[in-house]
Amino acid sequence: MELLYLTADDVTKLLNMPEALSVVESAFKEHGMKQVQMPAKSYLYFPEGDLRTMPAYLKNAGIAGVKIVNAHPGNPANGLPTVMAVVMLNSIETGAPLAMMDGTYLTNMRTGAAGGVAANHLARRDATVVGMIGAGRQAMTQLQAITIIRDIKTVKIVDVSTTTCNRFRKNMAELGCDIVIAGSIREACNCDILVTTTPVRAPIVADGWVQEGTHINAIGADAKGKEELDPQILKRSTIVIDDYAQATHSGEINVPLNNKIITVDDIHSTLGEVVAGIKQGRTSDNEITVFDSTGLAIQDISTANHVYQQAVKTGIGARLKLF
Ligand SMILES: NC(=O)c1ccc[n+]([C@@H]2O[C@H](COP(=O)([O-])OP(=O)(O)OC[C@H]3O[C@@H](n4cnc5c(N)ncnc54)[C@H](O)[C@@H]3O)[C@@H](O)[C@H]2O)c1
Repeated sequence: MELLYLTADDVTKLLNMPEALSVVESAFKEHGMKQVQMPAKSYLYFPEGDLRTMPAYLKNAGIAGVKIVNAHPGNPANGLPTVMAVVMLNSIETGAPLAMMDGTYLTNMRTGAAGGVAANHLARRDATVVGMIGAGRQAMTQLQAITIIRDIKTVKIVDVSTTTCNRFRKNMAELGCDIVIAGSIREACNCDILVTTTPVRAPIVADGWVQEGTHINAIGADAKGKEELDPQILKRSTIVIDDYAQATHSGEINVPLNNKIITVDDIHSTLGEVVAGIKQGRTSDNEITVFDSTGLAIQDISTANHVYQQAVKTGIGARLKLF
């Protein structure tokens, strides 16, 4: 019995954003049609960080697996990344392990792809200006995906670190947009599509700064107690979540729900229901739409399956003997 072992370099060679957008869109559709099994991610808490396991089975794609991912904020001081992930894929017929691969780049790509799928269904067709709060790793893949689904001309980026903004501008230059470093979060909010990718635990986007017609990808809040948006924004928005159990526990809506500023009746739908055509996406040009993303195992497993298929086709990766 052997399994295919794929390093971060292998995964990077085998995955691009148009492909990630396509497999993640299909995964959300399966989720909307209730064709997946996906228990909410489970957390182990340590003094230094946490470890999350994220299993999923996608019936139509015919694949199952689990991502194991940590978050240890003190790691960089010891020369290690904060977040490291591995994905295991298993055969649904025999349960046999098929592949084990680095999941860090894959996580960034599938998160960007989810933002692209959300913007495709929820942002105005004529959107040309993207505002970005946070210029780190997730910001880059969000923009890569959004520029594929809309004709983006201008990007306004803001981060507490000017160095990070400059790195973002350099790395994203190939996308061909005019990337402007905004002087404030308020300035970045003057846009058609707003993307928030910061780890903050208290709102940094004020209600009055978000204009009618904006679509927001709220990406940063992915654990209990985190939030980036003034809850009053949610009160005047169409709220689309990725998954009920995860979003209510750890998404952008978790704190406003606990504080009873919004109720579960304020949730419009899941993204999967919109992709599957069960619920409507944007219905008018002046509606504010919010995609509350916590990150789903179906995104990881569908993307990893695509990487695995490409690896088998191209002969990339090492075969490891199990027994
Ligand atoms: N929804 C998902 O699926 C998903 C997936 C991965 C990561 N995340 C979350 O997204 C967030 C960002 O992850 P990342 O990998 O991009 O991290 P990162 O460290 O690469 O980037 C975060 C950036 O936010 C900036 N920042 C921090 N506070 C700020 C503030 N007050 N104003 C402006 N900028 C600020 C930092 O300087 C940094 O550049 C984290 O909270 C992470 O947990 C969510």
